[in-house]
Amino acid sequence: MKAFNDLADFSAEEIKALVALADRLDAHPEPDALKGKVLSLLFLSPSLRTLASFQAAMTRLGGGSFVISPDMSIHGLETRPGIVMDGTAAEHIREAVPVIASYGDAIGIRAFAERKNIDSDLAETEFSALTDLIDTPYINMESAMNHPCQSLADWKTLDDLEVPANDGKFVLSWAYHPKALPLAVPATTLHMAAMRGMDVTVLRPEGFELPDALMQKAAAAAETSGGSIRETDDRAEAMQDANVIYAKSWSSTRHYGDRLADQKLREGFLDWCVDESWFGNALEDCRFMHCLPVRRGVVVADEILDGPRSVVIPEARNRMLAQMAVLHQMLGGGS
Ligand code: CP
Repeated sequence: MKAFNDLADFSAEEIKALVALADRLDAHPEPDALKGKVLSLLFLSPSLRTLASFQAAMTRLGGGSFVISPDMSIHGLETRPGIVMDGTAAEHIREAVPVIASYGDAIGIRAFAERKNIDSDLAETEFSALTDLIDTPYINMESAMNHPCQSLADWKTLDDLEVPANDGKFVLSWAYHPKALPLAVPATTLHMAAMRGMDVTVLRPEGFELPDALMQKAAAAAETSGGSIRETDDRAEAMQDANVIYAKSWSSTRHYGDRLADQKLREGFLDWCVDESWFGNALEDCRFMHCLPVRRGVVVADEILDGPRSVVIPEARNRMLAQMAVLHQMLGGGS
């Protein structure tokens, strides 16, 4: 495996094999599988789970890792192309990224969306500019429109919960958040659930529709898997017979890159905080998923996070197991 960038680069059978490998590595640890291997981790955006789970994954497989991020005592990093570097930044990513990559056998890169221009973010302009600098195998640790490690872990979580793949009903719901957040998680979650064969409903207020390109990508995956995609702002209709609700906030696509207009629009939807009243039409054992971090009392009520519906902790642990599977395949772990 030369890159783990997008679940769409793999067949459903290949994803199922990765999930099976993650299960196997959990049940039967392989502490020497990646002995002597090194993973470089470049975080241009903040993290808790991804930062910790990749290092834990490499250690559990017998390899090592190192982290570089701008808030460490490194030289200031310049990212703009073609710039005369007469300001505070002492090092350009055109040197820094290949150097960091050269110390490892693979590199993980996180660079959130710039969120200025939707077309540029949909085209993954910034992330491609980074991966174009290296020949090393790489893992997307979250870019503008992708978070494949989260989606692989979420696929495994759905399997662990025995949520039906075909005929399972998955609701991806927008939730209120005071800030305009990236589209990577909703984009990748929508595609993952469609690829798994589920009937997916995107529940969102007007102005927060997901871009056509993302809906079409998911629709193509659903066509192959036997799943379906639809979009609504009707909460009761969306939650009818739902197996899972996956909550996430994201930027207004109507006002993408316009922080003030986005803020004004989202302030009309303060009541989009998932609480028990949302589950009236859902299946009795309908589960709550979220990639974390999550704002309590804003995105979701404590009664849900602390109650039996929530699977956010095992979901987060699955990040480590899913990434162990990816690293095992990418770096040639034993049998
Ligand atoms: N879900 C996720 O990627 O978490 P972090 O941003 O903490 O890595």
